[in-house]
Amino acid sequence: MVGMLSPVRILVTSALPYANGDIHFGQLAGAYLPADIYVKYHRLKGSDIVYICGSDEHGVPITLAAAKQKLSPKDIIDRYHNRIKRSFEEFGIEFDNYSRTSLPIHYRTAQDFFSRVYKNGFIKPGVTRQLYCPSCRMFLADRYVEGICPYCGSKGARGDQCEKCGRWIEPSELIEPRCKVCGAVPEVRETRHWFFALSQFQESLRKWLGAKQNWKPNVKRFCEGWFKKGLKDRPITRDLSWGVPVPLEAAKGKVMYVWFDAPIGYISSTKEWAERIGEPDRWKDYWLDSRTKLVHFIGKDNIVFHAVVWPAMLMAHGDWVLPTDIPANEFLNIEGRKFSTSHNRAAWLPEYLQDFPPDPLRYALAVNLPENRDVDFAWRDFHARNNNELADVLGNFVNRVAVFLKKNYNGRVPEASLDGGEGQEVLEAIAEAPGRVGGMIDSYRIKEAARAVMTLPALGNRYFDRQAPWRSFKADPSRCDQTMAVCTRLVSMLEILLYPFLPFTSRRIGKMLGLGKRSWDDAALPVVPKELKSTEILFEKLDKSIIEVQTARLRIRKPGHVRKGKAMISFDDFKKLELRTAKIVSAGKVPGTEKLVKMIIDIGGEERQIVAGIGKVYESQELAGKTIIVVANLAPAKIRGVESNGMLLAAIDGDNISLLTVDRPVSAGSEVS
Ligand code: MF3
Ligand code: ZN
Repeated sequence: MVGMLSPVRILVTSALPYANGDIHFGQLAGAYLPADIYVKYHRLKGSDIVYICGSDEHGVPITLAAAKQKLSPKDIIDRYHNRIKRSFEEFGIEFDNYSRTSLPIHYRTAQDFFSRVYKNGFIKPGVTRQLYCPSCRMFLADRYVEGICPYCGSKGARGDQCEKCGRWIEPSELIEPRCKVCGAVPEVRETRHWFFALSQFQESLRKWLGAKQNWKPNVKRFCEGWFKKGLKDRPITRDLSWGVPVPLEAAKGKVMYVWFDAPIGYISSTKEWAERIGEPDRWKDYWLDSRTKLVHFIGKDNIVFHAVVWPAMLMAHGDWVLPTDIPANEFLNIEGRKFSTSHNRAAWLPEYLQDFPPDPLRYALAVNLPENRDVDFAWRDFHARNNNELADVLGNFVNRVAVFLKKNYNGRVPEASLDGGEGQEVLEAIAEAPGRVGGMIDSYRIKEAARAVMTLPALGNRYFDRQAPWRSFKADPSRCDQTMAVCTRLVSMLEILLYPFLPFTSRRIGKMLGLGKRSWDDAALPVVPKELKSTEILFEKLDKSIIEVQTARLRIRKPGHVRKGKAMISFDDFKKLELRTAKIVSAGKVPGTEKLVKMIIDIGGEERQIVAGIGKVYESQELAGKTIIVVANLAPAKIRGVESNGMLLAAIDGDNISLLTVDRPVSAGSEVS
């Protein structure tokens, strides 16, 4: 917090994303971008900081995705772990370590953790009533079952949590439960599980949280609500075959509940990092020393796990530090509606990165983070932010300074006294901005910080306009020199202050300046570079059409994503089909069948025979003369011994069959596309 003594070291985590799909903008805005900005700032400050994350590879989200795509859980996590890792890298999110919870180091860490909490007496067996699907022959843990929320009455509540009211649900409490795999009505059966004694931590948690003066009110309010209802012991084992095996002889065949093993992933990922840098004990500096500031960046759907259950787990274990801050963000909506990965109503990071560079999105999200309330992401805003703010204000300022220097000073920055003159306002801004913006970032007011940084190039543009160096260059050269020296100072500060938000742009400005490595505090020092090297355009303006194209994508289901119907095909696949109109010349039943009709059709000068199963619905007489649509390049086939050279198209609605025909007269053989 601002004004407080700096901690000795900082350990930052972002929620481990489930490796069952790509990262979408909602996740970026909630847990990754703000954390990355915070970490990049602290790295420039020279803080001892480590940024940890990894894929969450257990739990029903994974096995359900596997079942739906007819793949193994291992296939799913391998595919998505790599995709997620790569797209974070491309987006400039720089973890010190990005691990995965399927690694042996995590199994060991999670099992040791479990055993210790068990030894300490906070894990006890008990008999529970669980839903069991008779047709799938399995217990329906967590998201395997959906029904009506017993608390708020909303439909589609999952067996672990209701998305509407945020309440934690026991599957057996759901009203009208249904198996998520097969849709069957499950029955209640008894099974033995192990419970974490959460109820015993209510008082210590309350005291611990009560002392957190600076925590976001949304997080504190949420936890208060939990305490009021009274914390209950929670089953932390599951009858599933995918997960970390419970290290108890009596619990053979059971695995840990994913929300028990996943946060321990923060510890195992730190261990992996320490091994990777060749100092295998370094993780202890962070996890075992009370002077560590432990910061968990999460979205609001994860609050209860991070602010209540996880601290209780850490207390039950006894060795570890507790979270210092949990800056939880609210939700990002998209085009006025909720993100829904199950309905594919989301904007996906890898798709974005195919079309645009990372920084415009980092910027559009940073200045509109859901820090205190839900906010909306709209492509129209993205377009405006890129064109009107990044290109017209920031890009324009840097570019006009560079171009002016190149043209009039041969790229050299003039030496000039910075004291006095009209540059005072700009110089004062340069002197105070790093401290002020840094304070905002350090207290998790990232949105405010992003906006504050962007006022600087705007200030530069106003100053440049007022000074009109294109005039003073002849009329008052020393004034022009000073203008350009002040402007260059501002550009050189922007390299540093922009870095947490727009790292790629910052690096490009850095190349122009050639000042080498500098710290956050250097940004306020009066260093003027000797020259400005190139005059590249920092931001491309985007055409308005991207708004419609990107918004339309929200309505299209993503390839590979589970949808009803057949697998998605490409346009090239579609183009392989040759569809043509055809005129039926004559028709008659295939002898000995009720359904099959043999037709001679004209597809534009060529006559062919086709066979179709429409005999129950169409009389042969009424068929002759109709113009229909056929697949003309289908390989010939024999149907009941009769040759068919093509296939007609018809809509099939149970027994009701309707031939596709044309809306207005066209000649036989016309292409259909
Ligand atoms: N995988 C969870 C989600 O996406 C988050 C896990 S955070 C951790 O909602 F703490 F458990 F790691
Ligand atoms: Zn089922």
